[in-house]
Order: sequence, then structure tokens, then C-alpha cells
Amino acid sequence: MDPTVHNNGKKQLPPTTPKWISSPGNPLKGDLHRAVFTPPHLSYSFNALEPIADYDTLKNHFYNFHMKGFEEFLDLINDTEVEKIGLGLLFKHSDRYPEDVIEHAGCVFNHQLYWDNLSPHGGSMSEEFESVVNQNFGSVFQLKMNLFNLAQSHDCCGWLWLIVTHDGKLQLTGTKHNLNPLMKGASHPGTPLLAIDMWEHAYYVKFQNNREDYLRSIWMLINWNEVSRRYNFAT
Ligand SMILES: [Fe+2]
Repeated sequence: MDPTVHNNGKKQLPPTTPKWISSPGNPLKGDLHRAVFTPPHLSYSFNALEPIADYDTLKNHFYNFHMKGFEEFLDLINDTEVEKIGLGLLFKHSDRYPEDVIEHAGCVFNHQLYWDNLSPHGGSMSEEFESVVNQNFGSVFQLKMNLFNLAQSHDCCGWLWLIVTHDGKLQLTGTKHNLNPLMKGASHPGTPLLAIDMWEHAYYVKFQNNREDYLRSIWMLINWNEVSRRYNFAT
């Protein structure tokens, strides 16, 4: 059966375009400069993550939050200098721009990372990256436990991150709303390797307010191969 066909028989394909954040290059130096003009896209169908992440949640999330945020962002920056500088410089100097521009830019960037961090079949860490995880957290299991603990103390409406800091250390952190660790003034600055959406719209339909079950499901879908690849380009 064609995996892109939902059970109502109607084909429902999300937009797919060349990946910007997943393409080779340090996200701080290269791809982000043209990222702003690339529409949101998925590399898998809306039902590809079932039963862990359901079709309706994924489709609603993609169109009503990410795509809508992208369209609003383009309206906000129309005929402004932001059109020319791209996300990299916008984040680096985020204190110079209106809050709604920064929030929308974060919405665009964070969601694309989130989609690209997931895969229907998960993915394995590279040997090198697993070794770095072990050095920084003690074990992959401990990384998972630390992530779950962080989620418990993190307010709703925000994001969880695994980042690599400027001195090469892995660190878990959280941000409020649509802020991210690339932005000026981030409490824990660094290059994002893994983004997890902790807004209620990401999980409420399926998991209600049980964020631990949501995280447990997301953990099974994380494409660690992609996270490992990002680590290589960021260091
Ligand atoms: Fe979201």
C-alpha cells in the first residue's frame, strides 16, 4: 500500500522541498542565510509516524502552526532588512529586532529542526557521537533521563534542546515560547542538534497533558543519525 495514502483513500502529501537545515554546512555560517525563504517541508508523509505520532496531530501541527507561522513571518519582514540577512544574523542580533519578528523566525526555524529530527524508523548515533554523549552524560540512557527531568521542570509553551556549546560540550537546555539557543541572550547558547517541541499543540490530542508519554514516543522517533551529522558540521 502506498504509505502516503491515508485511510480515507485521499492522498495527503506534505510539501517537500530540498532541506535547508539538513543540507551540509554549518547552520551558523551557511544555510541559515537562505533558510528564511524556504517553505516548511517534511521528508515523510503525515501518517508516517503512526502510531506513535498520529496523522491528525502532525498535519494540524504542520499547517496550522509551522506553515502559518512561516506565512506570517514573510508578511512581517516584507520590505525590511531582515529579508536580506537571513536567519543566522537575525538570531545573532535578535535584540535589535521586534519581538514578534524574532518569535516568528524561531517558529520557522525550530519547527523545521523538529521535523528533520524525526524519522519513521528513528536512526542510530554514529560511533563518534555516541562516544561524545558518553563523555558528556555518562551514557545514552542518562542523556534520556536528564532530558525527561528537564521536561518536568520546563514550563509549557517552549522547546527542549540538545546543543553543542561553543567550547564543544553537549548540553541540554530549554527555551520559552519560540526562542532558541542561537539567539542573543540565550541562557545556554550553542548550536542546536536536537529540537523537541513542548507546546501543547504538539501532543495534546493524543497524550492530553501527559508530557512524559509524549517524550517517550518522540524518543523512539529521533533520527540520531541526523543529530550525529549535525554535530559533525557544528564542531
Ligand atoms: Fe509546534
